[in-house]
Order: sequence, then C-alpha cells, then structure tokens
Amino acid sequence: MDKMIIEGGEKLKGTVEISGAKNAALPILVSSLLCEGRSTFHNVPELMDIKTVVKLIRGFGAEVKGAKSIRVDADRLDNVEASYDLVKTMRASVLVLGPLVARMGRARVSLPGGCAIGARPVNLHLKALEEMGAEVTLQDGYIEAKASRLRGATIYFDIQTVTGTENIMMAACLAKGTTVLKNAAKEPEIVNLAEVLKAMGARITGAGTETITIEGVDRMTGAEGTVMPDRIEAGTYMIGAAITGGDVNVLGCDPLYVDALITKLIDAGITVETIPRGVRVCGGNGIRSIDIKTMPYPGFPTDLQAQMMVLLAVGNGLGVVTETVFENRFMHVAELIRMGADIIVQGGCAIVKGVPALKGAPVMATDLRASACLVLAGLVAEGKTELSRIYHLDRGYQRMEEKFSALGARIRRVPA
Ligand code: EPZ
Repeated sequence: MDKMIIEGGEKLKGTVEISGAKNAALPILVSSLLCEGRSTFHNVPELMDIKTVVKLIRGFGAEVKGAKSIRVDADRLDNVEASYDLVKTMRASVLVLGPLVARMGRARVSLPGGCAIGARPVNLHLKALEEMGAEVTLQDGYIEAKASRLRGATIYFDIQTVTGTENIMMAACLAKGTTVLKNAAKEPEIVNLAEVLKAMGARITGAGTETITIEGVDRMTGAEGTVMPDRIEAGTYMIGAAITGGDVNVLGCDPLYVDALITKLIDAGITVETIPRGVRVCGGNGIRSIDIKTMPYPGFPTDLQAQMMVLLAVGNGLGVVTETVFENRFMHVAELIRMGADIIVQGGCAIVKGVPALKGAPVMATDLRASACLVLAGLVAEGKTELSRIYHLDRGYQRMEEKFSALGARIRRVPA
C-alpha cells in the first residue's frame, strides 16, 4: 500500500483548480440507470469511488466509456444485483436501490455493513421505498426489494439524509403519481442531481429545500449533465492555506457552497476574499481558536470537521468541535495526538487546546476525511510525517500530492 511522505513548514502559495464533486458524481452516474439511451456526464473526478460505481453500473449490463467525461448507455439492463464485494468498498452503492426498483421492478443490493465513522444504517431508504409500495426484505446480508411499479407517496425523513433523499428522489421519478419528500436534505449535490434528472425528463421541484416534489413519469431518456465542483475538496485546500500561513487562490468552486467554512475561517482570523471563479485565502496573522458544530447543509459540513480540527490544534486558545451528524467521527484525534496535539474527546465533543507546533510522525489513515486531516497536519508540523493506508485518500481526492506540491508543499507518494 502506498504512503505519503510530508516535510512540514512550507507556506502554500499559488492557485489550485477544484475537481468535480465525488458526492455529486456518484448519484449522477447512478441516475443513468433510470434512462433508456445514452447519457454523458462532464467534469467527473478521477477517483477510486468513481471506478467502483462504474464497475457497479457495468455489472447491471450498462455500457460505460470515458473518464473525465463519462458516457453511459443503459438501454438494456440484465442484472439487478449489487454484490457485497463491491458494496463493502463504497457505502454509496446503496444509491442503486431506488433506480433499479423503479426501472426494473426489483433489486438485490448488499447491506453496506459498518463504517469507521458510524453505523450508518439505511433504514430510512428502506422505509421510504416500502411507503412507495415496494416489498422489502433482508436476506443473507442483502436488501431484496421489488415492486411492479412504485407509487407516489408523501415521505417524511426522520433525519435529513443526503443519499436517502437522493435514492428516493430517483425512485420517485418513475413512480406512478406524485411523491413529496419532507425534511429532505438540502445539500448542493442534491440540486445538481435534480438538474440532471430533469434533463432526463423527470419532473422535480424544490430540490435544495426541505420539501421536494416529484411527479412520476413513464420513461426517462439519456441526457447530458455536468458535475458541480467539490466543495469539500475546496474547503480542504482553503484550510491548508490558512494553517500554513499561505496565500492561495482556490478556483472552480462557488464561494456560496463553502459559506459556513468562510465564516469560520474569518472568525479564526484568516483573510478570505471572493475573487473571479473562487476565493483567495491568506493566513499568517495567527489563528484564533473558535468553536465548530457540524450540521446538515447549510450548516458547517461534517466532511470538513477533521480538517478544521488541524486549524484548532495549532490555534491560540481552546476550541470545541461538536460532531452532530455521525457518532464516531473522531478517529483522527488519536493520530493528531501522536503528532503533539492536545485534544480531549467527551462524547460528541472534542476539546482542542492549541499548541505552538505539531511534530511530524508516522500516522495511519482510518477514513477518507481523516486522511485529508493528517495530510494537513503533516503540512504544518515540524519535521517528517509518514501517512499510511492512503487508499482512503484516493477514494475522494484527485491527485492530492500533485495539487499540494504545485502550491509549494514538500509532499510525495511512495509505493509501500
Ligand atoms: C453523505 O453520506 C455523504 N456521502 C457523506 O460524505 C457525508 O458525510 C454525509 O452525507 C453527511 O453530509 C455521499 O454523499 C456519497 P446521511 P450519507 O444519510 O448519505 C443517519 C465523504 O466523506 N441515517 O446524510 O450516508 C446516518 O447514520 C462522505 O465524502 C440513518 O440513521 O449520510 C447519519 O448519522 C462521508 N438512517 C445521518 O443520518 C438512514 O437510513 C446523516 O447521514 C440514513 C442515514
């Protein structure tokens, strides 16, 4: 397994271009299963998770070609099973459930199983499908769902679930009648997906709000769509500029999508200004410790919590990080402590006391965003950091070492 070697202490300077959003590309690629004919999607990021979802889609009988622009021809599907060996590598595979039941009348998808950051059940996905008339059973670790034709229903999500909203929004596109999703998630990736579904012939209003209405249609046809920029990748580089005292233009991401982060960075004494095509982030005037509380969009994103903890770890004072979305998303804390951070975890809160400097050390990635956090810690630490298990990183960041090197970081990937 490859490792990342980082020599800390360089101020990041220059410009970084943001790639397409993993969490938009995954549901958008899956949406092609609803369509007869060819769909083409642009600005798809080149990531391990994208390779996994392409394997899944091919497994159902669709033809898939391309990389940054991907063409999917889902005219003839001849399989409705998503196997455990693929689903266990990417939980988002559960997104195929709704489209397969809607298009093919049935699906057999492995339960995703546990995850480092939490139990992450899919009960709300299944409950919604049942309310739309599907017969759902759990058998040998698989979800078996079938319905001659899903029927529109009013669905209330107990929790704002991103992929739950996406799964059921897609299923409702081909249902008979109207579906209303209440307490729906409002992430920008859901709006991006809805735009693509509408180009395919779906009738959707309200995406991006807590109430989404979908009028079912009888068929959908392939269309073109473009994946939005990755706001979490953008936020990761913005925090990198802040903690190293650098001066970086982060381009290709609408500042609106990182509004909560911008507010928090400014509270912490970082200069952030809007520039054409993105933002300019300048650190170097000290870091004020602040409190962070993760919430569903438009609140502070849980996917930037670990990265923001590095900023607090080298801040001037005490900051409290409250994680409200997942029950175990502090796996990065133990590794940060090995680098000299002063952090105490109590339940869903981490109390972070800033230290004058972190020290490079051998550390281990446990999940996607924890690995990004440890790269950032290596950039700001004194000495050398060696990060192992970086396959986690490759799931969600396109060529991170190249992008950070271009900004002046001393970072390289070495084959294990
Ligand atoms: C999506 O995961 C993202 N993944 C995650 O990004 C992100 O952290 C998360 O949303 C929250 O923003 C993709 O979009 C592919 P949820 P998802 O359903 O949809 C509970 C990354 O790093 N819940 O919104 O799986 C759940 O346990 C990844 O890119 C149920 O209880 O998250 C969690 O506590 C990590 N039952 C909360 O809801 C359900 O049926 C929110 O989860 C569904 C969810």
